[in-house]
Amino acid sequence: METVDLDLGEHTYAIHIGAGLLNNAQLLRSTIKGEKVFVVSNETVAALYLETLLASLEGLNVTSLLLADGEQYKTLETLNLIYTGLLENKHNRSTTIVALGGGVVGDTAGFAAATYQRGVEFIQIPTTLLAQVDSSVGGKTAVNHPMGKNMIGAFHQPQAVYIDTDTLKSLPPRELAAGFAEVIKHGALADANYFAWLEENVEALLALDDELIGYAVKRSCEIKAAIVSRDEKELGIRAHLNFGHTFGHAIENHQGYGKWLHGEAVATGMVMAADLSMRLGLITQDIASRIRQLISDFNLPVCPPADLSAAQMIELMRVDKKANDQGIRFVLLESLGCAQVVDGVELSLLHDTLERRDGLCEL
Ligand SMILES: NC(=O)c1ccc[n+]([C@@H]2O[C@H](COP(=O)([O-])OP(=O)(O)OC[C@H]3O[C@@H](n4cnc5c(N)ncnc54)[C@H](O)[C@@H]3O)[C@@H](O)[C@H]2O)c1
Repeated sequence: METVDLDLGEHTYAIHIGAGLLNNAQLLRSTIKGEKVFVVSNETVAALYLETLLASLEGLNVTSLLLADGEQYKTLETLNLIYTGLLENKHNRSTTIVALGGGVVGDTAGFAAATYQRGVEFIQIPTTLLAQVDSSVGGKTAVNHPMGKNMIGAFHQPQAVYIDTDTLKSLPPRELAAGFAEVIKHGALADANYFAWLEENVEALLALDDELIGYAVKRSCEIKAAIVSRDEKELGIRAHLNFGHTFGHAIENHQGYGKWLHGEAVATGMVMAADLSMRLGLITQDIASRIRQLISDFNLPVCPPADLSAAQMIELMRVDKKANDQGIRFVLLESLGCAQVVDGVELSLLHDTLERRDGLCEL
């Protein structure tokens, strides 16, 4: 087992990573202070892993609530179901909420933990690759509003994150690929050597070689943890983790939830952000091509939807919460492994990217 610490002073917590960790009762119970536990999962994940988790929590006073599966249920209505479940079962401030599932379960249960009785303790057990390397680490919690994704939320750090890499074996291939988008992102924005290592190990990683996937999850968690520990509330450098997200959120919002997975939209968003970085003279064409190639090698889309025009995309990016009062804010690359926030991008260059000029979609 590997452990990565997310250093946040007195709120420092550990991210434990290992195969078969769901069976490690002693470890899982070590961060639960009270007797009462409220497990939030969904129908799909519960059918696979809830029994194992409950066996590890035996002896504690545990209630479970299963949500319907899907991004379309990451809503205030679902949140209310969680509050009702907590109240009906007389959960109080000493309750620990445990999220067992992907990013949707983690974000929703996390926001419930941030707000129920002004905040209760929270543990993340992420079961998708995306959740293991990204959404479970760093304390961002949220639900969607019909007018925008993740618009209602809070920062609420977990007591611990437990990552059982064995759970990835049941993940549908498309979901696995979507998680690799965030893995590629970490290499692109923070560690050129890691990016090169990913280029060399695509097949073994997609085949979930135990050692390699364990290393990828650990390295990605280290990169995210290092950034979050410097800037918990995203006032500065944490914004670098949004590489690919300005374009990606526009794609997601245009398509409506469910058609493009979050990781797929971020993947295409990174291709576009790399393309814009190149047009601004920040990175070479060779680096932009390597990013596009690696994304494609992990079976991720490199081209935005055909029916999404440049004008629509600009409109969607303007309402994204990552936009500021001055306009659209981009996270771009100044080299492989080094990101920067850029405001005031020249519109003609942005249009070249959005109109897919010079073979953006070609490999
Ligand atoms: N909080 C953050 O910092 C942050 C960061 C990135 C993304 N997110 C959010 O994360 C969400 C996406 O998360 P996701 O990609 O995990 O999607 P998801 O939670 O919808 O999970 C994807 C699918 O896989 C299923 N699943 C989960 N684990 C499984 C397993 N081990 N075996 C088989 N099936 C399994 C789920 O039931 C679901 O059908 C989005 O809502 C996004 O906004 C949050």
